[in-house]
Amino acid sequence: MITLSVIKADIGSYVGHSQVHPDLIEIAKKELKKSKFLIDFYVTNCGDDLELIMTHTKGRDNKQVHGLAWDVFMKCTEHAKKLKLYGAGQDILATAFSGNVKGMGPGVAELEFEERKSEPVIVFLADKTAPCYMNLPMFRMFADPFCTAGLVIDPKVHVGFKFEIYDIKEAKKIMLNSPEEMYDILALIGITSRYVIKNVFKKDGEPAATVSAEKLSIMAGEYVGKDDPVAIVRCQSGLPAVGEVLEPFSFPHLVPGFMRGSHHGPIMPVSNKDSHPRRFDGPPRVVALGFQLCNGKLIGPVDMFDDPSFDRARQMSNEISDYMRRHGPFQPHLLGEDELEYTTLPEVLKKMDKRFVKLPESESRSFKKIQK
Ligand code: F6R
Ligand code: MG
Ligand code: MG
Repeated sequence: MITLSVIKADIGSYVGHSQVHPDLIEIAKKELKKSKFLIDFYVTNCGDDLELIMTHTKGRDNKQVHGLAWDVFMKCTEHAKKLKLYGAGQDILATAFSGNVKGMGPGVAELEFEERKSEPVIVFLADKTAPCYMNLPMFRMFADPFCTAGLVIDPKVHVGFKFEIYDIKEAKKIMLNSPEEMYDILALIGITSRYVIKNVFKKDGEPAATVSAEKLSIMAGEYVGKDDPVAIVRCQSGLPAVGEVLEPFSFPHLVPGFMRGSHHGPIMPVSNKDSHPRRFDGPPRVVALGFQLCNGKLIGPVDMFDDPSFDRARQMSNEISDYMRRHGPFQPHLLGEDELEYTTLPEVLKKMDKRFVKLPESESRSFKKIQK
């Protein structure tokens, strides 16, 4: 069995929250090279997030693998502090490593599987958004026949998939089958502030896709930047084809994130070299790196959105950004109240608490439930 581990953290960037400094990428490469147990690795960034893409045979949630990632992030933080990079050590929320980086700041997406005769995988890296940004594209890849022709045409894909959905407010999860329970799946994952697709499986239990679901603000109890998730999707031969996995990104759907993690904006599919959110700290970006696995070796990457067929999505994303930006500080550009809970806005609102006075009974009745 091979494990593909993608572990990421924002440990400082330049200029502002824009992009990872090349020194940090070099340090991470140097550190990972020293490892005795990694089969292969690839280090890159998406905006201000440093991504470690690693293969090994140690399984998911492995202490050594997570410990290695933790050490890399600590080394990089040290250098980021030396250069006075912005937000140096930003996502390192815990003071010491305790066996698993989950719940300590970094984001984690890991899949363990038997490598097939040929194993194409796509690693999605995002910046200035939250794990729920993948709800719509994941649903379209694995459940929407208007996106994935294989759901109609290919008997192996036609049977559908299983979705594991997390309720991040209650820390609960549920497994639902598609197409049988498609409307139930949608009833949950449309509420992106609460429900997140964490894993997708084939009906026989074979893992197909995973998203890092860590919520930084919930862990820290305050605003500390967006989660900027990573995801892994296996493709072809009984799974959605590479083109079916990329197709959802031809539509730049609205996601939470953007400036101060407090605004809705269109996700922009970009090449690795364009993954530096700049306009209004955005628009939110997604990069797709394609690899062929060969006995755990990462053959690639191919920069999948570095293609003119995504030009129109990028153009639409710019147009939608213009439209959304003209709302300024108003909803729905500004996030909903429950999602703003962990931003810096409550601090501002609190100052006015004492100045509010109760409405007289005659008026307040208009805002209360009628007692029968
Ligand atoms: C969003 C993000 C940025 C910052 C913004 C303010 O995820 O990281 O939009 O929220 O640049 O940053 P501070 O508060 O560090 O000045
Ligand atoms: Mg940052
Ligand atoms: Mg980021």
